[in-house]
Amino acid sequence: MHSEGSILLIKHAAEIVTSTGTTARKGTGMNRLERITDGALLAKDGMIEWVGTTADLPEISHENLTIIDATGCSVIPGFVDSHTHFVFGGYRPEEFFWRLSGTPYLEILERGGGILNTVKATQSMGYEAMVETASRRLDDMLAMGVTTVEGKSGYGLDFDTELMQLKAMGNLNTDHAVEVVPTFMGAHAVPPEYRGREDDYVTFIVESLLPAVAEQSIAEFCDVFCEKGVFSVDQTRKILQAAGGLGLKRKIHADEIVSFGGAELAAELGAVSADHLLQASDKGIADMAARGVVATVLPITAFCLREKYARARWIIDNGGALALATDYNPGSCFSHSIPMLIALAAIQLTLSPAEILTALTLNGAAAVGRADRIGTLEPGKQADIVILKYPSYSFLSYHAGMDIVDRVIKKGQVVVDKRYSNLGGNK
Ligand code: NIG
Ligand code: FE
Repeated sequence: MHSEGSILLIKHAAEIVTSTGTTARKGTGMNRLERITDGALLAKDGMIEWVGTTADLPEISHENLTIIDATGCSVIPGFVDSHTHFVFGGYRPEEFFWRLSGTPYLEILERGGGILNTVKATQSMGYEAMVETASRRLDDMLAMGVTTVEGKSGYGLDFDTELMQLKAMGNLNTDHAVEVVPTFMGAHAVPPEYRGREDDYVTFIVESLLPAVAEQSIAEFCDVFCEKGVFSVDQTRKILQAAGGLGLKRKIHADEIVSFGGAELAAELGAVSADHLLQASDKGIADMAARGVVATVLPITAFCLREKYARARWIIDNGGALALATDYNPGSCFSHSIPMLIALAAIQLTLSPAEILTALTLNGAAAVGRADRIGTLEPGKQADIVILKYPSYSFLSYHAGMDIVDRVIKKGQVVVDKRYSNLGGNK
């Protein structure tokens, strides 16, 4: 991405606002940000070297120097969308409307629809189309300020297609400006050929798929849909123990539809995150906080499923580390809108602008095992930066549901600049 010896200089930012540190922030710590007015930032070769006020900016002359005057703009870290399913074939609009007329999400899956519909389309789409469609989705995410995305397999559910999804994410990570974190989620649903012998599918994952994934080093995480009628707590434990033994970090789709013990299991296993948590028990959430498991809340999914939101406020008030992510997928949540996510977090979850920023940057980075490298604007971190077209980052919440991203910088390079594609629309 970055060219050798390049220097990026941002100055006169109305404010530079960031969390600080290299681990997830929890509880009241999520509300404490660093804020520098008339801010400046210096990055070299894609890494941040210096952050301070414009007045204190060191003297620089360099032949490969990009200078950005950020007058009137706020500057924040790039967003980390730590939970998505962005590699898939086909769409399922009809299900969206069935659900709105009352058919439950899991009932559609039991009938062989839902995830299994997308599995059919993904198995038959071919590698080129897979990479091409996913790449266009990454373009759209980047335009909203997302500089790192986690993506899951789980729409293959057979040996070749699962590996193909992960390989596609590896290629996109190299070829696209957005950094992609690949997660193996072979345990996303039980494929039809294993119906009635679910344990055999778990054995197939543990004995065939996981060793191949580990051997080819094509995933960093393993995730399981731990849910009534999908994978039990015991099956989830078995898969995640095997994944851990092979060096994969762990995540769980936990307590989304029914209270099922997924949060407790995440704490027991020391998973990096447990996600959804709409129905998580008090004990499960407390266990996660005690064990340092990031609680990833996905309010657009709850909105689309018309379910009660996860108790994000309660999680933070009880000392938890909260991340926010979109859960972008063709079924339960066909949206990767960061503005919508922020609006729901502010208005429905009653999170403060500071908590939202931490949840979408540093804590998102922690949820993908990268808090040492991204998620804040500090010397030593990667120069993944978003410039907003308003002077305060609080406009992210206040300008409800609106995209206020002006420019996006990945590893010190400007990769989105809306001032030229949106003539007359900005400032
Ligand atoms: O996180 N809950 C399971 N998996 C996804 C939905 C996938 C789909 O419906 O295609 C989720 O909501
Ligand atoms: Fe999901």
